[in-house]
Amino acid sequence: MISHNSLALALLAICSSVSAADKSLFTRGPYPQLATSTGITIVWRTRAVMLPELRIGTTPGELTSSGSFEHFTARRTILDGPSSSASSPLHSAPSGTTQFEAPVTGLKPGTRYYYGIYDNGKLLTPDDDSCTFTTLPDPGTSAPVTFWVVGDSGTATASQKAVHSAFKQWRARTKSNVDFYVHVGDMAYTKGLDSEFQFSFFDIYGETLRGLTCWPCIGNHEGGTAKGATGTGPYFDAYISPKNAEAGGTPSGTESYYSWDFGKTHFIALNSHDMSRKPGGQMAQWLKADLEKANADWIIAYWHHPPYTKTSHDSDKEKDLREMRENIMPIIESGGVDLVLTGHSHAYERSFLLDGAYTTPTVSENAVLDDRSGDPKGTGPYRKRPGTLPNEGTLQIVAGHGGQALSRKERPHPVMRRTIVEWGSVIVEVKGDTLTAAMLNADGKVRDTVQIKKDAKSAPLRIARPKAPEPPEGPLKLKTYVPAGQTLVEPASP
Ligand SMILES: [Fe+2]
Repeated sequence: MISHNSLALALLAICSSVSAADKSLFTRGPYPQLATSTGITIVWRTRAVMLPELRIGTTPGELTSSGSFEHFTARRTILDGPSSSASSPLHSAPSGTTQFEAPVTGLKPGTRYYYGIYDNGKLLTPDDDSCTFTTLPDPGTSAPVTFWVVGDSGTATASQKAVHSAFKQWRARTKSNVDFYVHVGDMAYTKGLDSEFQFSFFDIYGETLRGLTCWPCIGNHEGGTAKGATGTGPYFDAYISPKNAEAGGTPSGTESYYSWDFGKTHFIALNSHDMSRKPGGQMAQWLKADLEKANADWIIAYWHHPPYTKTSHDSDKEKDLREMRENIMPIIESGGVDLVLTGHSHAYERSFLLDGAYTTPTVSENAVLDDRSGDPKGTGPYRKRPGTLPNEGTLQIVAGHGGQALSRKERPHPVMRRTIVEWGSVIVEVKGDTLTAAMLNADGKVRDTVQIKKDAKSAPLRIARPKAPEPPEGPLKLKTYVPAGQTLVEPASP
């Protein structure tokens, strides 16, 4: 069906846009969003004359037409005249911008596709295999999954770029299949402006984003311009998240928080910034219902504000962090969540296997189920029984070390086994009965590995007096990334 809105907007683009003769036609993207087992949506922006066509195929160089601009959503800013009649105008994109959102349906599950954007028969996207996506596996199948986790990256600094380079080099070196990208918030300092999204996110990760769907959650900095309750702002313009359970899970009715399935691994993204964190709030009620229905082997949740941290933030002292611990963590743990990924604190912190650490201040006594290293090459992985039984133990990872200046307190958080003050990211793999998370630093070294194995015969027992955490590694403050082998000029601590 031809969308009259889309047609009108595309024609408007012809009349009002800038010449593209001397610049790339794309001002953002293209990048895949809203992956499902049978579809995808490709998103890009242009300020140029363009009546685009999307072609896809399972072999690069052999793409066939999948849709022309009549089938796309074309969004413009409300200030650009007649486009204000569009159902969801862009919040604050540069004048003359058109954001195309091109849905593709009827695809095969678990299949790799390549895509290209054409204008009048001419290929506009790179003529290589970088424009690619893989549909989600058939729902209910136990497919292995590997994903990249980044937090608090949006600075456009050398540290952010080094973290990205280390990931690209790791990918090339290990030839690992990475399925998608999870961002745990603070991707566009300092207010989440459209321009900040552009130079701190899309311009930095552009090549990677062409072939990896990013599944986000909102950070407080994106909240400078975006509103969770209405789903408006540059953050919500950048992403298309599933509010109607398009990729599995329970419909949330909002892109602010949502759930989805990758085979039998269930993912939950929460908005810890500006939605109610009360137990009776809409988000908490939805979370309960979602966890009750989840038919999964593994459950992974992610949001921005960490329930446990003593690095650049303090979870005993800050209201939003306290509420996520006191109100949301009981739901998470009784729902059988295995792993919680957060950011906000600018360091890497990784916990013991935990359950029931809801008090303020947090203490480790009777809240740790396994106080060994969790490292398969150390004292061994944490063990749980198969399935997603309630209160069998949750692992917490704070991954706010993606680019912003780093810092920590004098002492580690009592439930955090490792605290490392280095820039980096986290790579998570779920395969059969094993979940592995590895911290890859900006110099390309794996600095921590933790594993959960679901092969236990009995429930883990609470430890009355667990071991103390490892002392934090790294200085109290670190502002500037210095590559390995070079001298750190900055004082290590104040
Ligand atoms: Fe933050």
